[in-house]
Amino acid sequence: MFDKSVYESRRQRLAERMGSGMILILGNYEAPANYLANTYKFRQDSSFLYFFGINRPGLAGVIDVDNGRECIYGDDPDLDDIIWSGPQVSLQEMAERVGVKHTATFAALAGALQNDFGNNRVHFLPPYRSRNILMLEDLLGLNPAWASAYSSVKLIRAVVALRSVKEPREIEEIRLACNIGREMHVRAMQEARPGVKEQRVAGLLEGIAASRGSMVSFPVILSQNGETLHNHDHSQVLTEGRLMLTDAGAETEMCYCSDFTRTVPVGGKFSSRQRDVYSIVLACNRKAMELARPGATYKWVHEETCKVLARGLKELGLMKGDAEEAVAAGAHALFMPHGLGHMMGLDVHDMESLGQEFVGYDEETRPSGQFGLSSLRMGRRLEEGFVVTDEPGCYFIPALIDRWREKRMHEEFLVYDRIESFKDFGGIRVEDDLLITRDGAVYLGDERVPSTIEEIEETMRG
Ligand code: GLY
Ligand code: MN
Repeated sequence: MFDKSVYESRRQRLAERMGSGMILILGNYEAPANYLANTYKFRQDSSFLYFFGINRPGLAGVIDVDNGRECIYGDDPDLDDIIWSGPQVSLQEMAERVGVKHTATFAALAGALQNDFGNNRVHFLPPYRSRNILMLEDLLGLNPAWASAYSSVKLIRAVVALRSVKEPREIEEIRLACNIGREMHVRAMQEARPGVKEQRVAGLLEGIAASRGSMVSFPVILSQNGETLHNHDHSQVLTEGRLMLTDAGAETEMCYCSDFTRTVPVGGKFSSRQRDVYSIVLACNRKAMELARPGATYKWVHEETCKVLARGLKELGLMKGDAEEAVAAGAHALFMPHGLGHMMGLDVHDMESLGQEFVGYDEETRPSGQFGLSSLRMGRRLEEGFVVTDEPGCYFIPALIDRWREKRMHEEFLVYDRIESFKDFGGIRVEDDLLITRDGAVYLGDERVPSTIEEIEETMRG
């Protein structure tokens, strides 16, 4: 954990933004996998970690803004817990480490909140785990179906404002996560040999993340069918000549994330068709890095990047007409039906549980309903200290091609006869993590994950 002054300052800034009321930040509980005592690896709530720093299940933090009182609610381990899980630092001592003076049992939390909820003074964030949804029913008498609707927009906005701008110490943690991510991807490239099962490579990456940090920042996406955007099926055997798409990142012990994607040719040599498409996606990735800077909206960066994609595909004879018009119409989304990127920090999709509209958009930059653009998680103006992913892609999704062709979608921009011949291609994505600096953006991590065709082929040889 960071020094206690870090958490004190964050809570103070949060209280200043709220002005009054009672802020409730629920931590997470253990989540059973297949029976109560067999749990998934514990993952603390990221906002709880941000303001209260304690990576332990079964806690809730309360900031009473009007009375300037902070308290962490939770139960110390009993003798049985100590016998099975070992001695633990007391809650009081943990609280002191993050600058909170008061602690109380979890049972006392309901009493502390009930008096105030009726006065609309209790602010909480949208719950995403069923146990916390039910907990809000116990604590506040809320119908579980209404728990999210009653979450506090004012608190969401205050938390997003603070967590969006990464502190130097957070950037350092993300850099560590990126270094682990790089190691994972280099290993994936070295293992991508014909005859190897995808699952073996995916498992090796999980092992690197777990042994060097805490765990993977999301379940590994790794497949020769990279046209399926989030493909968690690792059942195929790698075959010479096919592409292997790997989208994977790590979490540090402090739960800061990285998120990279690379697409490599099984056997180590890109075919000329693969080189053509790869070069376009890499140019998109570079274009986004060059354009990202404070003051630019990420929606604009997304659109400019899509124009690079459309121009490249036109050169390959897959698109036609004016590239700018094609992007405005959304025709390129046949090949890239997702957004350029998302915020990243304590969550790999940072703060996603607080709502895309609050995290990635604002009154000036509104979400779009257009296919493809509607999946852009981050659209608003960039600021120094933001961390975002830069992840363009180009995919040939047979079902989507068939549907669009059947409906004669964007025929003025799409060369369907030629697109048909790419139905067995798969998909390519190139993803890096960007730190927005004072006047631009930099790739995060000490050394970039191999990205050019030459670098990838060399890594695969080595
Ligand atoms: N890396 C997975 C995603 O960004 O959705
Ligand atoms: Mn990503």
